[in-house]
This record gives sequence, C-alpha cells and structure tokens, in this order.
Amino acid sequence: MLSLLVSATVTLVNGATSVVPAPPPPTPAPSTGASLPSVGSVARDYSPAGWESLWNLVGPVQSPPITTTVDPVLPDVLPSPPPALYPSWFAPQPADIFPNLTLPSGFLFGVSTAAYQVEGAVKEDGKGPTSWDWASRQPGVMVDGSTADITDLQYYLYKLDVARMVSLGINAHSFSISWARIYPFGAADSPVNQAGLDHYSNLIDYHLEMGIKPVATLFHWDTPLALVAYYGGFLGPQIVDDFVNYAKTVFAAYKGRVTTWYTFNEPRVFCAELGIYPFNTSLPIGVNSTQAPFICSYYVVKAHVAAVKAFREMGMPGEIAYKNDDFVGPPWRANSTDDIEAVERHAAFQIGVFSDPVYTTGDWPPIMKETLPPSFLPRFTPEEIAENKGTADFYAIDDYRDQWLAAPLDGLAACVNNTSHPLWPQCNQLMLYDSNAGWSAGPNPDPDSASWLQSTPQNFRYSLQQLQARWPTNKLYISEYGFDEAYEVDRTELYLITEDVTRTNYYMTYLGEALLSIHNDGIPLMGAFAWSIVDNAEWNYGFNAKFGIQYLNHTTLTRTPKRSAYALSQFFAAHLQKNDTVLP
Ligand code: BGC
Repeated sequence: MLSLLVSATVTLVNGATSVVPAPPPPTPAPSTGASLPSVGSVARDYSPAGWESLWNLVGPVQSPPITTTVDPVLPDVLPSPPPALYPSWFAPQPADIFPNLTLPSGFLFGVSTAAYQVEGAVKEDGKGPTSWDWASRQPGVMVDGSTADITDLQYYLYKLDVARMVSLGINAHSFSISWARIYPFGAADSPVNQAGLDHYSNLIDYHLEMGIKPVATLFHWDTPLALVAYYGGFLGPQIVDDFVNYAKTVFAAYKGRVTTWYTFNEPRVFCAELGIYPFNTSLPIGVNSTQAPFICSYYVVKAHVAAVKAFREMGMPGEIAYKNDDFVGPPWRANSTDDIEAVERHAAFQIGVFSDPVYTTGDWPPIMKETLPPSFLPRFTPEEIAENKGTADFYAIDDYRDQWLAAPLDGLAACVNNTSHPLWPQCNQLMLYDSNAGWSAGPNPDPDSASWLQSTPQNFRYSLQQLQARWPTNKLYISEYGFDEAYEVDRTELYLITEDVTRTNYYMTYLGEALLSIHNDGIPLMGAFAWSIVDNAEWNYGFNAKFGIQYLNHTTLTRTPKRSAYALSQFFAAHLQKNDTVLP
C-alpha cells in the first residue's frame, strides 16, 4: 500500500513519517467486560453467529485505522546516530567492547515480539477472541486502562518493522503466531481460518525476502477464549489434542520456511497467571487457584511433548524447544544453609519444572514432588517420562535478570511445612539488594511496573554456567532480554525518550558478559533476542512499561529508534562474523 503511505505521509519533528492516514480516535477505556460463563456452559457453535457470540464475551473492540498491509519506503533510512554516551576513558563505544572477541558463525542478532503485544487488529480477518482480549477488559486488570486492540498494529505494519530490522543489522525476529487467527474457535474439530494462515505465510516470506530469519513461537499466552469457555483452556485434558492439531496445521503450512520453532513462551509465567485474577475466575470445577498453575504445567508439558513428536514425525527441517524463563542466582547470604537450599527450591520450581522433564530426568524435580501432592501436581507415568526426555533440540532462556535468592525471611522451615505461608510452595524469594549493606543488585527499572527487573550483568555469567551445569545443551539462545527504563513513561519530549541510558548500558554490559561466557566459560550461546523491537502492550501494565528499543508514537504509529537500538546495531556490526548467513 505504497500509495496510501505516500498520500498520507506527514513529516514529524524527528524526520520520521506517519504511517496512518489520520490520527486514530483515542483508545477508549476498556468496557468492564462480563465475567465468563461457567466452564463448559458455552455451546460449541462454529458458525459466524457463534464467533460473534464469543466476541460478545469480550465486548466492543476498537477498529484499526488502516486495514491493509503497508509497504515501507526502501531502503529504510535511520535518523543520524547519537553522539558517544561517555568519554572513551570511562566507557568504550559498542564496537570497542572486547574488540578481539567475535561471536560464533551463525550467531543470531535477534529481536522478539509476541502476537498479543504487537499485532493489534484483534478482530480482523476472522480472528477469534483470546484470553487476553477478554482479560484486559476485566475490572481493575489494566493499570493504564488500555487495551491491545491497536498497540503497534504490526498485523498491517510488519513490513515496516522488518525493514527497520534490516537497517539496524538485525538478522532474526522471534514472533508468535496467534492460535485464534489460525483456529478462531481453537478446537481440533473447528474450521481453520485461511486468512490467518495466509497472513503468517506472507509475513514469513517477507522476512526471508529481506534476509531476516523468522523464528516462530506457537503460543505466547493468548489462549483462544473459546477453549477457556469450553473446558478451562490449559486446565482441561482436551487442550493437548487441540494444541497438537493447531501445531500440525502450522508446521505443514510453513515447513522449511521457518526452521527455528518454540512451542511455548515462558510456560511457568503463563501457568502462574491461571491462579490469579482475572484468570482464576474461570476455573473448571474441582480446580482451585493454588492447584491451577501445576495442573496447567502438566498439560503444557504433555502438549509440548506431543507437538515435538509431530514435528519429528512430519520430518520438519530445523529445531524446536520451548522458551524457559528465570535464572539460578547465587545465595543471598553466602553462608546461609537456608539460602543455599532456597536456591535449589528456586531451581526446581522456577526452572526445573519445565527443564527436568525435557532435558534431564523426564520427570518433575524431586523437590516439587516432595512438596506437592498429585492432586496439585499430576504425576507422569513411566511411559510419559520416557516420552518427555529429549523433546528439545536446544535450550532457550528469557534471561532478563539474575539476582540473589534467599529463603523466606522467617526461615525455610516456617514455609515448607505451612501451606498457608505466603511463599508456599516455592518457599524462596529473589532479593533486590545485597545482604551486607543493602546495595541494589543493579540499576533499577521503572518503579511502577517491572519491579522484578534489575540490570544485573555481574551475575549473568554465573547464571548461564548454572543452566549449563544443570541442563546441559549444545546450543543456547537468550530468547529474550531487555529493560524497562525508569520513568520513560513520564517523558514527553522525543530527545528525553530516545536517550535510554540505563537500557543501553544494560544491553552493552550483558553482551560484553556474553562474549566472556562464550570465550572463557565455553557456553554454547548462539543467539540473543532483544525484547523488544518497539514499545508494546506489556500485559496488565499496558503502555506504562517501556521495553522497546524504538519508541512508539500511539497517534501516528511511527517507530523512532532510541539510543539502545544504535548501540545494539554497532555492537553486533563489530562482533558478528562477516558475510555470515542465518537463513535456512
Ligand atoms: C515475556 C514478554 C514480556 C517481557 C517483559 C517476558 O517475560 O515473554 O511477553 O513482555 O517479559 O516483561
């Protein structure tokens, strides 16, 4: 749609151009959506009327300001780069960080996104509603009252984002496919939506044409709402067959064009959400909020294993795994036996839960089985244990931060034997300040959103070593890393917004440590995906949390690179192998 772009072009202060014909109406306050009918009470009606009645559970949605794919002006030209941040005696330029160390051949300089957070166009081209389309309209959920109805409108503007990746030297984009675009009703016996399949086909082709490796995630938390209504989504056994059916459809459609796949993004975080508001208002009978995360974990592992089996049976070229999250950090008080034990509890509950079954024993970590009865954590049979093992071709970790780990401050014993303790059953916590003088673990994020996040490059190598020791792999990706710049949300002038000093330092220090991990520690790191190419809808924080290496102007949908985008670009230009190719 070049004509639309040209006729609608508006020059902005920074020299960027608007990509929409006219400012869209302001985002309306979300309707206070209805709570879901009790699980199982919604009839399966796969007709257009059934589709509309599912959307009625969500309420009205905002239409996008454009409804056709926009072509970028090529080549994409970046605004001039920023001057050096500090004198070179204080901090090196990105290209001068360990200038003699290079990244291995084929290393992925990636960015990551997720369908719900960037696509917008939520009700276009036959897409069904998702759990988050519904959740974002429940009272009190969104801290800024926003929805993701439009967000970055990447559904129609993906070519602009890909062109920008090219101009920054990025060579891989990890995006997610929205299950509800492919199967609006989610279920295996429901109709496939050709428009949804065609969209991702075009998107994948455009990445390949532009030299960007497409990396696809099947599920990044946006469960088709129909499946939640029919049987409780990931709390019902039917989810396994429905997920595998969806996976097979997508595998067949994009075979050979996408060669790096993820089944699930951060299943631990996703499953934890099912136990809290608003998702815990739609639990199936017999499942309570404390059980929900673990029952979900069981079905996620089963769905992952079955999807990987299908991947292999279909002779799919390439590699598949899921994206783990979290870290194994050092004990807060080095000599505390409670803290040392807390590290093990963290390793089990927060990472081992999805890593032991796939990478080592095939089963849940022993600490989890000792703590949780089968009514909470369903047990794998010996056959399932055998099937689980080896169902990942590499290890992927969303490694945002690596703090210290501690026992509950009233002692480990007070928690492990007390199911009403606030930290039960994990019985560990991460510490944001040191145990000696109370110094922060590192530069802090925006205090009103990502309070879990600190910039902690000093523990990054330690944490990668822990992963490699516990769940050894021949190939590791940092499938997400990024930073929520403090107070960026309060800045109004572009020169303030784009000067993202803490995020820039975060990326540069992590990447310097990554070079040392590869060269000194033998970590088989083969890619790092920055979250995210542009500011986007940060779940319940909406647009109040800023993770983009580009600023999003919500009126014009223009993307403007921040300092961190240039720093990443300069770092990788200097450290990637020259003339490398990463495409299939
Ligand atoms: C998730 C993203 C999220 C990011 C920043 C990751 O845990 O995969 O969806 O936006 O963290 O919070």
